[in-house]
Amino acid sequence: MQDKIIINELVNKVIQGDCLKIMSQIPDNSIDITFADPPFNLKKKYNNYYDEREVEVYLSWCKNWLSEMVRITKPTGSIFVHNIPKWLIYFGNFLNEIAIFRHWIVWDAMGSPLGRTLLPNHYGILYYVKSDKFKFYDIRMLHKRCRNCKYILQDYGGKKNQMHHFGPLLSDVWTDIHRIRHKKRRDEHPCQLPIHLLERLILMSSDEGDIVLDPFLGTGTTAVAAKKLGRRFIGIEIDPKYVEISKAKLQHTKPSLINECYVSNFLNKILTIRDKDWEKIQNAFILPKTIKHLEFQEIVLSNNKITPSHNKKPINDKLLRNENCQLEINLE
Ligand SMILES: C[S@@+](CC[C@H](N)C(=O)[O-])C[C@H]1O[C@@H](n2cnc3c(N)ncnc32)[C@H](O)[C@@H]1O
Repeated sequence: MQDKIIINELVNKVIQGDCLKIMSQIPDNSIDITFADPPFNLKKKYNNYYDEREVEVYLSWCKNWLSEMVRITKPTGSIFVHNIPKWLIYFGNFLNEIAIFRHWIVWDAMGSPLGRTLLPNHYGILYYVKSDKFKFYDIRMLHKRCRNCKYILQDYGGKKNQMHHFGPLLSDVWTDIHRIRHKKRRDEHPCQLPIHLLERLILMSSDEGDIVLDPFLGTGTTAVAAKKLGRRFIGIEIDPKYVEISKAKLQHTKPSLINECYVSNFLNKILTIRDKDWEKIQNAFILPKTIKHLEFQEIVLSNNKITPSHNKKPINDKLLRNENCQLEINLE
């Protein structure tokens, strides 16, 4: 009973404070997803937090909040930690002792590294669980296509007729989600994550109404993603300015649904769906006539104002020629 009161007091709130203090009030096994994107100890310029600690100090602090995340996560839940490989190898070593390793997701955030060889250009997301009863749903991403001619980049060889209309099941390498590049989509925060990155993790490992907790909320990305997908959230952030930004964004956040299924969308495109939802949502899309057409024709939402790029030019029934890519696609 007492446990329930504590959780109810925190749910759907952004709490300003030190995550270790707040998490210590949360009962064992009570949260469905814990996701952390901590400061990387890379001298980033936060509003308040000082991001430059001795390595031992940083790692010992990280062990404290990692332990708390594992303690409060339910046996059916999932634990995700986003960071650079330099720190994740330490985190993994520690987490292996108290939780069960599932995956190291590589997020190639499509930066443009300039200046030196082997400049870090990907992030890792450690994915751990606490028992074999963890929730998990197969997730699909859109087909990767040529930016100019829209032709599918993956070579399916002789298995083209097995292609899924929406796109393939995800591997552990994610290359279709960019860091936030445009200033107008950014808050005043040095390392804000894209909402659809969080939406993907949430769709994969939780159900409607589940609780998602982020101990380093920043300007609210995880809470916004959770609310868009009909989940509850607990956001903790030490900096009052970031807390205010999060609260303001949450006020305008609406659910993202197609035919009663939660989906992840960005700029009028659906980026991630659950495999099991496809049957229910497919009639919301304009689908290519045949699998052969799918090779060069994107699926689009039927109420979408965006016209499929291939319709901009008349298509010769038998041969589609794209000047930019010097590509000829025979439709026979
Ligand atoms: C990498 S950022 C998280 C960004 C976030 N994922 C987003 O998309 O906006 C880390 C955040 O942790 C906050 N922070 C640092 N120490 C903290 C602590 N002890 N408790 C709670 N938040 C803390 C910082 O103020 C910073 O906003």
